[in-house]
Amino acid sequence: METVNQLLDSIKGVGRDAVRGGYSRAVYSTAELDLRAWFIEQALQRGLSVETDRNGIIWAWWGKPQEGALVTGSHLDSVPGGGAFDGPLGVASALAAVDILKARGTVPARSLAITVFPEEEGSRFGVACLGSRLLAGAIAVDKARNLRDGDGNTFADVARTNGLDPSHLGPDAQALARIGDFVELHVEQGKGLGAHGPAIAVGSSILGHGRWKLSISGQGNHAGTTLMADRADPMVAAAQIIVAVRDTAAAQPDARATVGRLMPVPGGTNVIASRVDMWLDARHPDDAVTARLIESIHGTARHIAAGEGCSVSLTEESYSDTVHFDPGLSRRISGILPDAPVLATGAGHDAGVLSAHVPSAMLFVRNPSGISHSPEEYVADEDANAGAVALADVLEGLL
Ligand code: GLV
Ligand code: MN
Ligand code: MN
Repeated sequence: METVNQLLDSIKGVGRDAVRGGYSRAVYSTAELDLRAWFIEQALQRGLSVETDRNGIIWAWWGKPQEGALVTGSHLDSVPGGGAFDGPLGVASALAAVDILKARGTVPARSLAITVFPEEEGSRFGVACLGSRLLAGAIAVDKARNLRDGDGNTFADVARTNGLDPSHLGPDAQALARIGDFVELHVEQGKGLGAHGPAIAVGSSILGHGRWKLSISGQGNHAGTTLMADRADPMVAAAQIIVAVRDTAAAQPDARATVGRLMPVPGGTNVIASRVDMWLDARHPDDAVTARLIESIHGTARHIAAGEGCSVSLTEESYSDTVHFDPGLSRRISGILPDAPVLATGAGHDAGVLSAHVPSAMLFVRNPSGISHSPEEYVADEDANAGAVALADVLEGLL
């Protein structure tokens, strides 16, 4: 019987990023495929039966695959240069929880499955929670098939290379009906659980969030021969737009807005860019406020771009409404873990996508650094073990 830390230890060399630090485990990269293989091996060692569905979601079954099962799981892909826990903690804790339940002699009254969802971060194809969105029909299948990674590969092509039939991607009512209740354990990603006090919390809600692409077009030109007065430089417009994004969000209570990725085209030191693409992540509990925020950013961006002789276009890439987890399921979980505080999160999760269709809930494990999507994300060994025990208790209580 392995602890969560021993399990995480066995994958600590997979997908390390020597340039960015931390881990880069993009979906269907060698690293993520290695992790998927690792998970399947771990599941088989525990006597679970494993299948990969037509959307690339791995299911490891304790008991027969059947409708109304109790399902727990998370993801193994990461953001670029991410931490060790975002995703893998939930998967490793699920494996450890099965060990704990088996050691307790638990005989499940209904089947239990561990799921691994592909592309939770959207770091390769741009849309977060792509696997659960496809399963639940929360993304148009054609849109999903045509998503492209940074090298121009379509999701359809990458799915095909990885043994999936692109024509079979999409809503899977049968697979969804197998989820009676879904519980995702995840590292806490902010300062919600401090370094002292309880190590585990029960999730209450996920902040509404979305992603938009802003493309600023100007005139590509030579850095040496183009006078400063003659330029239409989209990078200069981008710099001002990024500050405006920060200022607009800062003026709106409870809003968060981030430009974390920017791509100058063609991208040369001695080249004035012809275009800059940048991606905006914006979040707020009220969807109408988010819509107004985006409209305001778009208007300001148009104004800034025009002042630099450039133009701008804005496209929504994905949006997820604020999610409140199933009150009945969350209450039952709080009954099983009476000392666990109830905590909202600003981070997106597959449990949030699933919650529109099946009772879903989350457990958070303390991260004393308060930092995530960064190598400094941290979970102490004893907290990880407490998380696995809490998950085992919850699963046992819900079985
Ligand atoms: C996923 O971690 C997100 O909230 O973007
Ligand atoms: Mn995650
Ligand atoms: Mn994440």
